[in-house]
Amino acid sequence: MKLWGGRFAKETDQLTDHFNSSISFDMRLYKHDIIGSIAHVDMLGQQNIITLEESQSIIEGLKALLQDIEAGKIEFNEKMEDIHMNIEALLTERIGAVAKKMHTGRSRNDQVALDVRLYTRDEIITLKALLKDLMETVLNLAKKHRDTIMPGYTHLQRAQPITFGHHLMAYFEMLKRDYHRLNFAYDHTNYCPLGSGALATTTYPLNRQAVSDALDFSGICENSIDGVSDRDFCLDLLYGLSALMMHLSRFSEEIILWSSHEFHFVELDDAYSTGSSIMPQKKNPDIAELVRGKTGRVYGNLMSLLTTMKGLPLAYNKDMQEDKERLFDSIDTLKMCLPIFTRMLATLKVCEKNMYKAASGGFTNATDAADYLVKKGLAFRDAHEVIGKLVLYCVTHETSLEDLPLDIYQSIHPIFEADVYEAIALTTCVKERQVLGGPSAKALEQHFEKATTFLTTL
Ligand code: ARG
Repeated sequence: MKLWGGRFAKETDQLTDHFNSSISFDMRLYKHDIIGSIAHVDMLGQQNIITLEESQSIIEGLKALLQDIEAGKIEFNEKMEDIHMNIEALLTERIGAVAKKMHTGRSRNDQVALDVRLYTRDEIITLKALLKDLMETVLNLAKKHRDTIMPGYTHLQRAQPITFGHHLMAYFEMLKRDYHRLNFAYDHTNYCPLGSGALATTTYPLNRQAVSDALDFSGICENSIDGVSDRDFCLDLLYGLSALMMHLSRFSEEIILWSSHEFHFVELDDAYSTGSSIMPQKKNPDIAELVRGKTGRVYGNLMSLLTTMKGLPLAYNKDMQEDKERLFDSIDTLKMCLPIFTRMLATLKVCEKNMYKAASGGFTNATDAADYLVKKGLAFRDAHEVIGKLVLYCVTHETSLEDLPLDIYQSIHPIFEADVYEAIALTTCVKERQVLGGPSAKALEQHFEKATTFLTTL
């Protein structure tokens, strides 16, 4: 018999049971469901809505049940639809009729909203720790490569010399914003919906604040209709995780490019790469590719839940049962992607010489050559034109600005002197970019300091 079976004259079809049921995926909420019930029942006892003895025996029963579930002794039943009714049915089997009082002044609508919030809160804490590990790894690697020169790109064409440390710190900033987004999602998750009931609270004298305090929420959901209808907190997290995956996918893409034979800027550690079943020479960046690939499902989860919520009338609708698999999948995906990405990065071998070589050949110092002329008194537009001509000369003669003899420089413009070589040396190009946020060691050290301090505040 269903817990709601009183109004029904016959049993539900098996297909209905299967279609309607969420136990196969919401069983992971068992702990949060029980913790929520304990707080609710404790309050019911304090408020004399049930007796203290009743609340005590329910709480003890719930604690014992939690232990047995954790010990793997319990099997859930699809006929009982979801985790909430499974737990209540199991408790009733164990402690008898008193268990039926647990649901006084509560609906599954506020119960599920509570469980998902409690679960999400815990998972955000885990995700934040994993993200912090990654940020530490990025920062350490950046510090190690403060002076490692590489080409910076625009349009994937060599643009200006930067350092690997500078490049990595761009990712640090992205991840920092991701961390803030996780905090944002946490803050909006951290309200207690319990007491909203089905949608209109209840006539029992519930103490919502006491339940909220017992469960360590920052406050209650102020409107009961919103309390059961709101899934914004899930969407906030799904967006935050999408942005994080977007960043990881860009980073992955670069690692895939860099580890190609054409770039050869990095080598992946054997422990974090894979081989080919047919081509013996292959060492593939599968992990970076999979992280890039999994970005699709995380975006999909966000779009899916946004679409589920679109146009839903207030208050609870069964459509909202679809929130959980999307939420769980994104959380699970990030819990896999973050640690493996961190380890892949921590073990990456950086081929500094290849990075330097790539920065040398491709006129990444052309802007600095133009700036050299500006310092000698030319207008930047004229300087740009002169260096353009020199680059064209180099391209047709297969040489570089560094290797061009002084008389060629002077044949194009007489203002060039021997100090041009020093001015366009890659180390000079980097060193002279002392503006905050730039690649020079001086600017980077300041960024490192702020980043280190930021991490200590987490
Ligand atoms: N399994 C349901 C869900 O995940 C729980 C709430 C059901 N409420 C209801 N009125 N049928 O949304």
